[in-house]
Amino acid sequence: MDLLDQARAVRENAHAPYSNFKVGAALRSASGAVFTGCNVENVAYPEGTCAEAGAIAAMCAAGEYEIAEIAVIADSPTPVPPCGGCRQKIAEFADAAVPVTLATTGGEAQVTSVSALLPGAFDASHMS
Ligand code: THU
Repeated sequence: MDLLDQARAVRENAHAPYSNFKVGAALRSASGAVFTGCNVENVAYPEGTCAEAGAIAAMCAAGEYEIAEIAVIADSPTPVPPCGGCRQKIAEFADAAVPVTLATTGGEAQVTSVSALLPGAFDASHMS
């Protein structure tokens, strides 16, 4: 199963009773392992978490910290872009050129990159 298909599959497990907007994310780490995540909403709305955050947490829990590729999918009219916070979370673990696939459940997909999604990112160099 390719990365996008894994994102599509995990999306089904999303807990999104408030937005009714299920999102799935799958990332391949530097080792080649795949980690997946879905959005998990909460009745206290700000406590909800995004699909990308779930996939990143699973990667770190496995002791891996480098994203080689990531895909996100939702039932949206155009390929779903990661929210601003998720762009920063992805950038924490991915080089600028890492490909990010944005997709719709209808079969549209678009490949972009971490740097295209988050130009001028704040990083550790700004604290030195
Ligand atoms: N959502 C994600 O999971 N990832 C994104 O990058 C965009 C938004 C979720 C959060 C919330 O559960 C729902 O989509 C509607 O905003």
